Amino acid sequence: MVKFLRILAWLAIIAIIVIAAIIFVPQKRTSAEDLAVNADWLPAAHDDTGEYAARAGDCAACHTAEGGVPFAGGRPIESPFGAIYSSNITPDKETGIGDWTLDQFRAALVDGIDEHGANLYPAMPYANYRKLSERDIEGLYTYFHDTLEPVKNEVEETSLTFPFNQRWGIRVWKWVGLPDAGFTPRYDDADLNLGAYLVEGPGHCAACHSPRNLVFAQNGTDAQSDSFLTGGEIAGWAAPDLRTKSSSLASWSAQDLDLFLATGRNAHAGVTGEMKLAIEDSLQYLTDKDRGAMVKYLQHIAEYDAPKDATLPAAVTAYPERLDMSNPTDTEKLLLTPQDQPLGARLYMDNCAACHFVNGQGADEVFPALDGNGTVTADATTGLIDTILHGASMPSTQMRPMTLAMPGFGDRLSDDEVAALASFVRSAWGNDAPAVKADAVRALR
Ligand code: HEC
Ligand code: HEC
Ligand code: HEC
Repeated sequence: MVKFLRILAWLAIIAIIVIAAIIFVPQKRTSAEDLAVNADWLPAAHDDTGEYAARAGDCAACHTAEGGVPFAGGRPIESPFGAIYSSNITPDKETGIGDWTLDQFRAALVDGIDEHGANLYPAMPYANYRKLSERDIEGLYTYFHDTLEPVKNEVEETSLTFPFNQRWGIRVWKWVGLPDAGFTPRYDDADLNLGAYLVEGPGHCAACHSPRNLVFAQNGTDAQSDSFLTGGEIAGWAAPDLRTKSSSLASWSAQDLDLFLATGRNAHAGVTGEMKLAIEDSLQYLTDKDRGAMVKYLQHIAEYDAPKDATLPAAVTAYPERLDMSNPTDTEKLLLTPQDQPLGARLYMDNCAACHFVNGQGADEVFPALDGNGTVTADATTGLIDTILHGASMPSTQMRPMTLAMPGFGDRLSDDEVAALASFVRSAWGNDAPAVKADAVRALR
């Protein structure tokens, strides 16, 4: 017994030493040399202020609270463990990053370590920003430290439940969850390397569009991983698969994809959910060359062969032709036969067909197609249900300033009705996704 207790005491002492080491032994910080990429196409090269690099990294999406001053922080980022509040990254000395050095700033972006050496939660996508080049980090530092006006704003402190409130534990997570730092061009083609850099690094597309593994790290932060960009989840919404044959992007041409990234609308889809911010604050500002390179890269790493011709343009002229009923689908026949319609079909005719049409094709750039739509058929049904309940609006962009909105139907339809309607659109036309239950609707009211 005594022997057993003695072993236990030793184990406890060893555990304390290990934990103390994790907490107190300084972490290795990535150096400027580690991040050198010898290329002048990097985002920071586009201007002297670093603003373009900040756009490419979409720092605004998370660091601006709803209705708050840009970059003054305080936006809650949802995680499975609770809300994590983003920091004030304006150069205010007390509440922002006014007294940070370039080395401290790099450590935050690349290694997830703050000014005092504490670990940042991976809600700050340093797993992706690890690929930023030193030149872009300097550009970002110029913008956030030297260009912006300081704003005093004490943001709400993040308080997760035990053990997730123990920041030292994040260090252990980093050993298994973080990829190597730095970006290595992998292709012989300069455009593909540029596209890879923008998507994998600043664009941090994988933070939402890659699945997560057991320790909740991104499963794939670059195209060398098969699961990279094959679909993830953010705040319950599906961030659709962009890569495999079952992706709805398989029917999008390069122009379709380019138009979606620049404006949030094309012949197939209208942007909703968290992706709206990515377009509104970031992607719409990229140069045609940069966005084109991203598109080229996304199609290059995809398993599908995208169509050559765009399903463009003719926004309004195209739809009378599409309403040609000489060869109706089963869903069209059902919708156009008013007798004995099941509840879902009837609700669709009454509430949705005026804009999305009986053929589910909508109208190019105005009303998204629901047939073959990634949000409609996703395994995670939150996006579809939320859109029906609360409506949605497309962003105003430089190229397409008009915001187009869909009204919410939450006041008019019961949980059972929304479930029947959602189940209908998920199985109408060429769609083939399982039904939705009323409970799932109730949870999102
Ligand atoms: C997906 C959301 C998200 C994006 C995008 C994002 N951040 Fe963050 N960032 C956060 C969160 C959340 C924190 C706070 C993490 C914590 O408390 O551990 C944070 C913390 C930081 C910090 C540490 C500040 C401090 O006081 O400790 C810096 C610096 C920072 N971010 C800079 C940036 C820059 C620059 C960009 C754009 C290149 C950016 N972030 C993009 C979510 C984000
Ligand atoms: C007044 C016209 C109008 C009506 C009626 C309407 N919608 Fe919409 N719908 C839109 C517009 C515009 C958008 C694009 C909004 C956006 O992308 O933010 C949209 C977007 C959507 C989306 C998201 C598509 C995507 O690509 O992410 C879904 C799903 C949807 N509608 C389903 C429905 C359903 C189901 C109904 C019936 C309850 C309905 N809509 C009624 C105009 C309408
Ligand atoms: C903060 C999370 C987030 C980030 C970061 C993000 N996305 Fe998305 N994305 C989403 C969500 C959620 C949707 C689904 C809503 C919609 O279709 O509008 C989406 C939809 C899309 C779609 C439409 C897919 C379809 O099937 O209709 C494309 C294309 C896309 N994203 C590309 C990108 C690219 C490229 C990047 C990086 C530059 C990126 N996304 C970064 C969350 C994100």
